Amino acid sequence: MAATNETRRKVFLGLLGSAAGMALGGGAGARAMVDQATRVFRLDGGGVTYAFGINAGGQVQSLYWGAALAASDSLPAAVPVEANSSNEMAPGLTPYEFAGFGGGLTTEPALKVRFPDGVRDLDLRYAGHQDKGDSLVLQLQDAKRAVRVALTYAMDEATGILARSAVVENRTGNWIQVDQMAAACLNLPYSDDYRLYFLSGRWAGEFMLQTRAITPGAFVLESRKGVTSHQINPWIAVSRAATGEESGPVWFGALGWSGNWRINVEMDAMGGVHATAGYNPFDFSYRLKQGESLASPVFHAGFSNEGFGGASRVFHRYQREKVLPHAPRPRLRPVLYNSWEATFFDVNEAGQVALAEKAASIGVERFVVDDGWFGARDSDKAGLGDWVVNLKKFPNGLGPLIKRVNGLGMQFGLWVEPEMVNPDSDLYRAHPDWVINFPGRQRSEARNQLVLNLARKDVCEHLLKVLDALLSSHNIEYLKWDHNRAWSEPGWPEVAPDDQQRLYVAYVDNLYKLLAELRRRHPKLEIESCASGGGRVDLGIMRLTEQVWTSDNTDPYDRLVIQDGYSHAYAPAAMMAWVTDSPNFVNKRVTSLEYRFLSAMQGGLGIGANLNHWQDEDFAKARRLVEAYKQVRATIQLGNLYRLVSPGNGSPRSATLSVSHDRKQAVLFAFLHSSMMRSAQKSIQLRGLDASAVYSLRAISGSAAAGTVAKASGAYWMGHGLKVALEGDFQAAAFVLEAVS
Ligand code: DGJ
Repeated sequence: MAATNETRRKVFLGLLGSAAGMALGGGAGARAMVDQATRVFRLDGGGVTYAFGINAGGQVQSLYWGAALAASDSLPAAVPVEANSSNEMAPGLTPYEFAGFGGGLTTEPALKVRFPDGVRDLDLRYAGHQDKGDSLVLQLQDAKRAVRVALTYAMDEATGILARSAVVENRTGNWIQVDQMAAACLNLPYSDDYRLYFLSGRWAGEFMLQTRAITPGAFVLESRKGVTSHQINPWIAVSRAATGEESGPVWFGALGWSGNWRINVEMDAMGGVHATAGYNPFDFSYRLKQGESLASPVFHAGFSNEGFGGASRVFHRYQREKVLPHAPRPRLRPVLYNSWEATFFDVNEAGQVALAEKAASIGVERFVVDDGWFGARDSDKAGLGDWVVNLKKFPNGLGPLIKRVNGLGMQFGLWVEPEMVNPDSDLYRAHPDWVINFPGRQRSEARNQLVLNLARKDVCEHLLKVLDALLSSHNIEYLKWDHNRAWSEPGWPEVAPDDQQRLYVAYVDNLYKLLAELRRRHPKLEIESCASGGGRVDLGIMRLTEQVWTSDNTDPYDRLVIQDGYSHAYAPAAMMAWVTDSPNFVNKRVTSLEYRFLSAMQGGLGIGANLNHWQDEDFAKARRLVEAYKQVRATIQLGNLYRLVSPGNGSPRSATLSVSHDRKQAVLFAFLHSSMMRSAQKSIQLRGLDASAVYSLRAISGSAAAGTVAKASGAYWMGHGLKVALEGDFQAAAFVLEAVS
């Protein structure tokens, strides 16, 4: 009898499958349940349970986030945390799902609004919920005024990744001003040994993994630069002290937003840990008229009990199956050639044809002309904004070059930086008012350029027109879409002063719309997100761009460190790297062609060297390595990545293993960066293989230590491991393991 009652009061809400606002592909969704007696909501999927409840005051509180609980487990109803003295109040201690600024809230609010009468108090309470089939939507409303908030929860069944977002709607009959808005607040179970991980960097040094203990107080990660930024990437992970690469709990999340963002990680007065992620409140203000609403970006959050490796593998899978264009089957990255480091701005038809012929001879599949092909673009001082072919460099337009490139069996791609303008350009001379600016104030230039105001309809219409015309009149199958400066003087003088700060949201929304519309009109088109390297890598732009340019630093050793950091958050399926000249233009380091190739082969492979300087043996080596790469790229790009030895913190060695989903193929890359500690001959224990299958070993480059067996079980390769014969500094080797029985 008891069991029947239990069953009756738990209502199955449905199957959730996709994230809010995202065009996502297939698969059944996660389970959503609500216990009507306790008012506890629970989402289950991918080995993860996420639960929250409505407390007696109507506030929505987190209850659990972590490894899957048994289906039969019931969570107790939500109760606000009690303060131990009058110096604290329950709202400053209670783990809210989406805290309104008001009452005694002293922790980070998810939403802060002001009303015309000066009131800045918001008491958000549960007002209902809806099962939308692919998501659960929770309705909240202020206790006194018609400020409504809809919280969307979409959990992916395969990975347990929860996509959370919010929409605030003004039904008060007057305007309200949103001063701060998050996508979500995520609360962690109580623990006193948490560590925070995040990715920081700068130009040519992106994605450096950082860590610090989470202690009382707040730690703010943010971009104030108008773009995602090199400085900090909008991804975090939180582990327990003992968590390692392959064991222990990791909670993680990334904000899908390419403008100003903030993630606030704080420990409250009683030790509760909260992460609030959303629009950056820095200079933020968004006025909503009666009936208007504002949507937040999406925060994608997950959990793994299998350490940082498990966390990144599950997040990579989610990106491949739910986020990237053409998910759940993102396209393989073609091998590309890019002319930037070979020619810089000195591009012309004859020079590009010469490079294209050489690129085709080594198996390149996509030839890309970088900066310098348009307007008066002989340097970074002029021409940006004038997206017309420079007839001095290409007297017959791009047509003959594209024809030659296609004739050589390659796709043609082009560099653009549509959001920017040089003051020395026809576009700026015609429309000086199209840039972000404050009237009568200086217009600070960086790289001699200003930022076009994409919040303006006319600017977007113009960009759509010129880019559409470019793509319609040429067989261009790929755009490298660049963004080379941080914002300054973020004014939008054409709208009322109270609406000017809408810029931060409207710009990015319109950028996404522009990219989506170009893709709709040109379905073959693929796009790379680049911002002076890795300055715009986030899950917002990655819904619309097949690949990202991780860094302008193409030195193969530095790149390994950058790629290692990147891989903690983002999928190899989207990561590009090029083989460039030695010494490298950034740090003058000299490395072998082999080492450069093996470093660049760990995601999408590109070549950016000046092929005019290559010798016959370089072409022969490149041809062989490109061919070998094509045999294994599906495993590298779409398989499971194991960081066997990370290159960070001055490690003399590093190694990665990519394993295909069916575990029939695995690709090992091993590097010796420094022979100083004579540590080359350690065995590398592989991971993720089928222990009972037999795998043959074949070298792509380099060799295994003398005596290495040619065939052994997965158990052997994982237990005994493999010794790689590497000697000297900056040496590399790569192997393929194929299941033979
Ligand atoms: C910055 C990019 O990151 C480079 O690869 C190159 O495209 C230049 N811009 C061109 O100006």
